Amino acid sequence: MTEPLRVGVIGCADIAVRRMLPAFAACPDTEIAAVAGRDPDRARQVAERFGCRPVHGYDELLELDDIQAVYVPLPAALHARWTEAALNTGRHVLAEKPLTTDHHRTGELLELAAAQNLVLMENVMFVHHHRHEAVRHLVADGAIGELRAFHAAFTIPPLPDDDIRYDPQLGGGALADIGVYPLRAALHFLGPELDIIGARLVQSAGRQVETSGAALLSTPGAVTAQITFGMEHAYRSSYELWGSEGIITVDRAFTPPADHVPVIGLHHGGKTEDIRLAPHDQVAATVAAFATAVRAGKIPDPGDTLRQAELLDGIRRYAAH
Ligand SMILES: NC(=O)c1ccc[n+]([C@@H]2O[C@H](COP(=O)([O-])OP(=O)(O)OC[C@H]3O[C@@H](n4cnc5c(N)ncnc54)[C@H](OP(=O)(O)O)[C@@H]3O)[C@@H](O)[C@H]2O)c1
Repeated sequence: MTEPLRVGVIGCADIAVRRMLPAFAACPDTEIAAVAGRDPDRARQVAERFGCRPVHGYDELLELDDIQAVYVPLPAALHARWTEAALNTGRHVLAEKPLTTDHHRTGELLELAAAQNLVLMENVMFVHHHRHEAVRHLVADGAIGELRAFHAAFTIPPLPDDDIRYDPQLGGGALADIGVYPLRAALHFLGPELDIIGARLVQSAGRQVETSGAALLSTPGAVTAQITFGMEHAYRSSYELWGSEGIITVDRAFTPPADHVPVIGLHHGGKTEDIRLAPHDQVAATVAAFATAVRAGKIPDPGDTLRQAELLDGIRRYAAH
């Protein structure tokens, strides 16, 4: 039997403790070797909970010699530095989204990983949920006729004032943190030739980052994608594909819990059919995909990660002019 992949974690982040560490612990192909934090007490507390070694300091974690992969759940502005450091010590990396705050850096890191035959995966989990593959099949089978338009929204209520998402120095802002989901969904369904034809970012009073926004994109064949995102809204996490003969609707699209029963709404010929699928744990599926890529020595296609980074920068530029 092959030994599990030994993972070191850089930062005792909420997403790490709540979602990713339980998934790494449950996956037979991964084992949490160590958790590093800036505060030794916090690192000890988290390490105790997951039965691994606490480490005080991120550099110190990278000095350990029994770690093959690193998970980076830091604020966005710190992803590039620590991802690069981990790659330079020969570790495979699973880094939180957005991989960096600038598409040139994203390109550099993807090249660095590929040159060393290391897996570098951005932690966009919803793409690993089987519901979206089922939607792709429906579209390919002509269930809604010819695809005309895509709409997606991810909006959440306000967060505590000290949240990393409100801090420009830490790479905060609704676009990269939240808008990344509907944008990635648009790329997932409409492909990499999608380009920006309109964008607006809104910074609400008293905030130093954009707190909401929207963008309009189009394929060369004029299939349009409209995305809405924000962190001062009622909760919404959904997308719709509009065809010449029908519409597909998907709710709880981006962060469904493991036991959620996924439903695809198929509206066609004046009728609505709710297609129910088995629950699917997208966090477990993502961890398994990372471990499998490392095992197989197969570098995942970085195309969507890179195009997403280019479009995030493009939306910022478009909204500023
Ligand atoms: N893929 C997903 O579904 C998903 C979901 C939620 C969040 N995320 C992403 O995960 C990342 C972390 O988000 P989160 O909500 O978990 O954030 P968080 O709870 O604030 O965690 C960030 C961690 O970064 C470390 N850190 C290092 N320098 C810091 C600084 N100057 N200020 C604040 N923290 C610092 C801290 O760990 P120590 O103090 O222990 O060193 C902290 O616990 C973000 O990129 C976010 O977009 C992804």
